[in-house]
Amino acid sequence: MTVWDSVSAWRARRLAMEGQSIGFVPTMGALHRGHASLVERCRGENQIAVVSIFVNPAQFNDPRDLDRYPRPLASDLELLGQLGVDHVLAPAAAELYPHGYAFHLEAAGCTDLMEGAHRPGFLQGVMTIVMKLLHLVSAHRAYFGEKDFQQLRTVAAMAEEFFLTTEIVACPTVRAPSGLAESSRNRLLSAAGLETAACLYRILTTAATVEKAAEALRAEGLSVDYVEEHWGRRFAAAWLEGVRLIDNVPIG
Ligand code: PAJ
Repeated sequence: MTVWDSVSAWRARRLAMEGQSIGFVPTMGALHRGHASLVERCRGENQIAVVSIFVNPAQFNDPRDLDRYPRPLASDLELLGQLGVDHVLAPAAAELYPHGYAFHLEAAGCTDLMEGAHRPGFLQGVMTIVMKLLHLVSAHRAYFGEKDFQQLRTVAAMAEEFFLTTEIVACPTVRAPSGLAESSRNRLLSAAGLETAACLYRILTTAATVEKAAEALRAEGLSVDYVEEHWGRRFAAAWLEGVRLIDNVPIG
């Protein structure tokens, strides 16, 4: 496994890979079983497996969240090595944003719904970095989790709109036995917090209405950003111990 921190060195190496099928999993690191499921699928479906680890400042609207975001690079690389990954892109921000944030992508309606409405700049930041990474890797397939369903939908629409040749592959949400969706931010919760956090999935799947779900989440001590239904799914974002949790489930 080779780790690349220079974009120009990676681009030169990428040119030598023509003719082989390439799969790509973009991440922000602090890898868990959810990421591993994407990497395993990518490994199984392509000759070359590429993963990126980059905590993208442009998608953080809260500087404290960016500061606190876990960055266990050594153990991440160990896991990716065990999973049989060929290349890891882990560049610094100046490599990926040579002009700062002078150029970025925006979608009409980006700020209307859920994550777009509650995290100003988030979807723009995600689209911009994903577009950059998709160009740099030029993969046949790129893997995204349904855990971040709105992100997945936005990236898929962007890829279609800009005629990108990479196929966007959706992967199911991986959960702990308690039902809690695996997330890098779960590391920031206390043991008691982890137990309480499992109510998010339970309530999303069992509450009769979005209003009742929000009420039940508040009763568990969570501070609710939203519970909404779109595209045949029920979505929620809520805070616990200063950590923002998101999840979504199919309705019915
Ligand atoms: P990150 O949160 O590290 O997630 C990387 C990928 O793993 C995303 O596609 C996400 O949906 C998926 N993922 C996270 N938790 C999952 C789970 N429990 N089950 C299945 N898949 C899961 O999402 C990002 O990074 C960033 O926004 C990124 C796309 C890398 C752009 O910076």
